[in-house]
Amino acid sequence: MHVLGIDIGGSGMKAAPVDLTTGTLLSDRHRIPTPQPPRPDSMTEVVGQLTQHFDWDGPVGVCFPARIKKGVARTAANISDDWIGVNLEERFSTASGCPVTVLNDADAAGVAEMEYGAGQGRRDLVLMLTFGTGIGSALFWDEELIPNTELGHLRFTDDRTAEEFASDRIREAEDLAWDVWGQRVRRVLQYLDFLLTPDLIIIGGGVSRPHRYERFAPELTDLDTEIVPAELENEAGIIGAAYAAVHSAMAGKGR
Ligand code: BGC
Repeated sequence: MHVLGIDIGGSGMKAAPVDLTTGTLLSDRHRIPTPQPPRPDSMTEVVGQLTQHFDWDGPVGVCFPARIKKGVARTAANISDDWIGVNLEERFSTASGCPVTVLNDADAAGVAEMEYGAGQGRRDLVLMLTFGTGIGSALFWDEELIPNTELGHLRFTDDRTAEEFASDRIREAEDLAWDVWGQRVRRVLQYLDFLLTPDLIIIGGGVSRPHRYERFAPELTDLDTEIVPAELENEAGIIGAAYAAVHSAMAGKGR
């Protein structure tokens, strides 16, 4: 089965058709820069352009940097607050003329890893964390998503949340050496391990690429949980969103 996956972020909106049998893209991604300011009307137009680009007439899965409940955005990260309260599924369906399912971006990346990547076959408690502008999280029990966990927003120090302490954006902004940043990541993982006792933690986002992961992985020692890098890197959001569009348990739906 083929589904169009769309990954919406604060700087780019990317789409590609996905083959759900193999979990691979059927063609190159098409990327359009996110309109600035990143408001609902202009971004919705881009969703229409992306579906038109692929001449798409079938199911569409979208991932979005927000908590999503029954298709409605409850928050907005790195996009306009005007998105809060908007029914994304209705809006994007109208703009594209296709049935659309929307889920949180980290949840989508986690879904992709569970189905096709580092979490395949794991029925125990799996925590996926994406390190980028923020820290996204996705939690799975018995191969089912517990959606919208937002663990990057845990208050971590007196004045910082986990993502304000250890996101990849903070590594760059504070010009942290990889090992120093890796020690921060380790502290976040230790805390999450204490709170949740997961069986596996998957580290996702751009830092999961081998040439980056190997630079901070040596700091992730003495943790009780198995830690592995994500396998699908940049494409995880598109692939997971596409998968969730036709597997409702992975879209956190129906509850
Ligand atoms: C947002 C999450 C999102 C994550 C990654 C966080 O700041 O609150 O919803 O999944 O960033 O984009």
